[in-house]
Amino acid sequence: MQKNIVLVGLMGAGKSSVARYLSAKLDREVVSTDAFIEEQQKKSIAQIFRDEGEPFFRKREKEAVKEIVKREGIIIDCGGGVVIDPVNIQNLKKNGVIFYISASPGFLYQKIKEKTQRPLMETNDPEARLRQLLAEREVNYRKADHILETTGMTIEQIGGAVIKKLKKE
Ligand code: S3P
Repeated sequence: MQKNIVLVGLMGAGKSSVARYLSAKLDREVVSTDAFIEEQQKKSIAQIFRDEGEPFFRKREKEAVKEIVKREGIIIDCGGGVVIDPVNIQNLKKNGVIFYISASPGFLYQKIKEKTQRPLMETNDPEARLRQLLAEREVNYRKADHILETTGMTIEQIGGAVIKKLKKE
């Protein structure tokens, strides 16, 4: 069995870009929990938050994780809040290696400030919100198998660091 590569971390950490980089390098398919939910609900994440609210989204996210982990050898690009529910972490760990892409809120904010479709960033002070989310979630993110400190790093550097860890597994 080939284990899944699971990417977690806050919004702006570059999970989707790193997933694409790894996909090209390792010839593995990427499945994103957000894209899975959007396809199933036929709406964008922003619209789901607006119409149904966050608790509804979190339930769909939990179901999405359960479905996605039935597959093997893929790269799973997780929405930033996937770690809130410890059951998701357990499910992702069963047949996957989890990488936490950690970075400072300031660095994350620089990367997301032009993109505004993220419902949790619709606030007057997005950087403060990132700091708050990090404070709430850090303990759970750190349940990952590998923690990569990536402040200041490019996508290629982060992807390279993931591959290096995988080789040592
Ligand atoms: C969220 C992160 C988003 C998306 C949703 C909620 C979060 O995914 O799942 O807006 O709670 O951190 P990205 O981390 O891919 O932006």
